[in-house]
Amino acid sequence: MLLHQTSWPEIETYLGRCQGILVPIGSTEQHGPTGLIGTDALCPEIIAHEAAIEAGFLVAPTFNVGMAQHHLAFPGSITLRPSTMIAALNDWIASLAGHGFKQIYFFNGHGGNITTLNAAFSEYYATWSMRGEPCPIVLKQRNWWELAGVMDTCRQLFPSGDGSHATASEISVTLHGYPHSAKTAAMSPRIAADGPFTDAADFRASFPDGRCGSDPAMASREAGTRIVRAAKTALIGEIQNFFDLPPKAQAAE
Ligand code: NI
Repeated sequence: MLLHQTSWPEIETYLGRCQGILVPIGSTEQHGPTGLIGTDALCPEIIAHEAAIEAGFLVAPTFNVGMAQHHLAFPGSITLRPSTMIAALNDWIASLAGHGFKQIYFFNGHGGNITTLNAAFSEYYATWSMRGEPCPIVLKQRNWWELAGVMDTCRQLFPSGDGSHATASEISVTLHGYPHSAKTAAMSPRIAADGPFTDAADFRASFPDGRCGSDPAMASREAGTRIVRAAKTALIGEIQNFFDLPPKAQAAE
């Protein structure tokens, strides 16, 4: 079930049997000359939507602009400041908690979100701690590539040159979801350099075409289908456990 394609009575009914919700969270940032700017939001969204159809849990709209200040020197990238993102996430969490959701699972597609997402959780928990009251909800974050079996699949598919940004793996996942989005471009060197960065100007100077350590020309729809299949299986197992969903609730409503 997708929250933005249901009505409020359907959500009320869902809350009667399950108080868990998955929020895909990503970023809107350049992904090299061939990767979609939405890659980091699309990857968790594609996996979550396929898993939700199979397992019958609820998926929120994608929080699709994250902390991407270091990509702002490339056209199209959008960022939230960490402080803005912490505030926005707390409003999403408080809204969902107010309806009775008790487990909120942030399914993340962008490494640059991890620190800020954790800070947002601390901010939310701090409100309850300072009141001296127990927090009624549990927050969890999980990066899609860290699900059991996913990195093994990616390493089998791309033993070298997968990289850390604009990776062949993540672009393959978007090709699985959007097969007609494939793009080509001349990229030199074949495998981009990798390393540390600070702000947007530093990032662009160090990684002129936007890639980090990757050869995205290896990406394929077929590879994406294998990665999504591995991720979906692991995600369903985690969600059933975290939401306390019985496996037989798998028949979607
Ligand atoms: Ni990415």
